[in-house]
Amino acid sequence: MALIPDETIESVRENNPIEDVIGSYIHLQKKGSTLMGLCPFHNEKTPSFSVSPSRQMFYCFGCHASGNVFTFLMKYENMTFPESVRVLAERAGIIIPEGEESEEERRKRSTREQLLRIDKEAAIYFYHALRSDEGKDAYSYFADRGLSDETMKNFGLGYSRKYRDDLYKYLKGKGFSDELLIKSGIISFKEETGIHDLFWNRAMFPIQDLNGKVIGFGGRVMGDGKPKYVNSPESEIFLKSRNMYGLFIARRTKRDYFILCEGYMDVIALHQAGFDNAIASLGTALTEGHCSLMKRFGKKVYISYDSDEAGSNAAVRAVPMIRAFNIDCFVINLSPYKDPDEFIKALSAEEFEKRIEEAENGFLFTVRKASERYDLRDPGEKTRFFSEAARMLLTLSAGVERGAYLSAVAEKYNVSERDLKNLLIKESEVLSRKPVRKIISPDTENIISLNEDNSSKTGSGLQKERISKGMAETYRMFLHYLCSVPGMLERSSLYIAEEDLPGVYRDIYVVLKNEILAGREINPARLISLFPDEKGQQEVGRIFSFTDEDYDSSEARGKAFKEALLRIKKERMALLSGDGGDSAENVYNALMDERRKLSDIQRTEFVI
Ligand code: CTP
Ligand code: MN
Repeated sequence: MALIPDETIESVRENNPIEDVIGSYIHLQKKGSTLMGLCPFHNEKTPSFSVSPSRQMFYCFGCHASGNVFTFLMKYENMTFPESVRVLAERAGIIIPEGEESEEERRKRSTREQLLRIDKEAAIYFYHALRSDEGKDAYSYFADRGLSDETMKNFGLGYSRKYRDDLYKYLKGKGFSDELLIKSGIISFKEETGIHDLFWNRAMFPIQDLNGKVIGFGGRVMGDGKPKYVNSPESEIFLKSRNMYGLFIARRTKRDYFILCEGYMDVIALHQAGFDNAIASLGTALTEGHCSLMKRFGKKVYISYDSDEAGSNAAVRAVPMIRAFNIDCFVINLSPYKDPDEFIKALSAEEFEKRIEEAENGFLFTVRKASERYDLRDPGEKTRFFSEAARMLLTLSAGVERGAYLSAVAEKYNVSERDLKNLLIKESEVLSRKPVRKIISPDTENIISLNEDNSSKTGSGLQKERISKGMAETYRMFLHYLCSVPGMLERSSLYIAEEDLPGVYRDIYVVLKNEILAGREINPARLISLFPDEKGQQEVGRIFSFTDEDYDSSEARGKAFKEALLRIKKERMALLSGDGGDSAENVYNALMDERRKLSDIQRTEFVI
């Protein structure tokens, strides 16, 4: 990688005040000489993330993340150091000569930039077509659905004309290569039909990223044809799970919640009615990626999915996913109307505002939905429902939260708290019995002592822990993925604590965590040098040379990562159940905590 001169880096830093840059991502409030906000690097409800204009640094009192303006972008946007310098240089209007980029960097950047240019040109083209003679029908389609001219402009709505390669010719005229146009997805190529436009006679919705750049399109048939929507396929610039429709506007809302809906039209109708906080996932079910995106803004989420069965099932799936990110979540009741668009048209923004106030707590919504599957007048079914409710309560963190919901459920469904609590204990026993298995398997590879420092030698001499071959490989795999995708740390640390790893693996995990949180690039040589003993060095080497050629897709790698997390949790639970030293109650509580994390992992999809 070619080097950017130090003076340039300094000047980029000086021209990008950290408070401005971070302030554009996170809501910061002045507290004395520093600014405070919710830390984007760990889950929290009260601000412990500080930005110091005088020192040009950020520091989190909660998770100890810290660094400068470059580190912030690297951590937050998952950028490399040179990328962060380049982005900030552009922001400050500083030119970094091309020659200072490596060949590969330049190619990648230029592909992305060109794809963005293609989508931008296409958006302009569709936009003008909507306002041309040929676009009359499309314009009336939008207008008949109640959209004002201003709304159409705000969302850059457009129209794709009735020719098979109209847009293709236009973009060719702008000098883009066939290869790039096909990569963009808005031009398709098939052996039989040759090159043609993806969108044909459709009402066009450009999809914008967080910064308002067009990264793809949805095209709706005007009327009842099929398919109703055609969407840009995923590409280097269009990742459906990392973007949400309307978010580039909603991110600046003054309200402390997002309204999460299903469709493009719902988002637009809500914005027009004054709800500038409406967003939607992009023609796909809600994913973990969307949740982590929403999490960045520290807002609550009000789900406003369609009121039909599909919408309500989607909400039942969305609630636990959102809650797993520690986001407060509620469900809006739209009945008897189908979706927010229809609701607002039939009633008014004021009525919608009322429905927001009356929205149901997300967890209680899922319990109520579960209750609908039982005939509560029948004693047997009623008992089965309460067992299910108890299992749902077990997914909550023990303590205040579970206690509060337990009371709420008991009151609502008319059962005594004591009875419900007893069911909870019964269900938890059933669950905690399952994962226990022998941890010392015959294929034990090497004996690694848990505490290799002197204190343990003078202390209990029984601190030896055997690690099976299989588990050693699991720990390596887990650490390997953290090294290759440091951004996964944020996710995995929701579930995996330092105590979950034994011996040298824990040491490596601790060092790795520090490196990642400090925003340093993971450098094998540096990591190795941090371990003076041979065993440590050897393990670090093994972790870096771990090959994952069996997992050629990001899905397969995600599965492997998930599997590793699950095994680590199960091992930990097995250890806990065998722990004779602690009181039964403590062991029970710890087990429940682990059980909850285990089911969180099971519900989660990981993409690496
Ligand atoms: N969707 C899609 N492809 C389809 C149908 C739906 O990508 N064939 C996505 C779109 O993002 C759409 C969302 O799912 O916005 C919700 O679908 P639906 O409720 O059917 O569409 P609406 O946008 O509500 O459209 P309308 O109000 O015009 O019926
Ligand atoms: Mn809809």
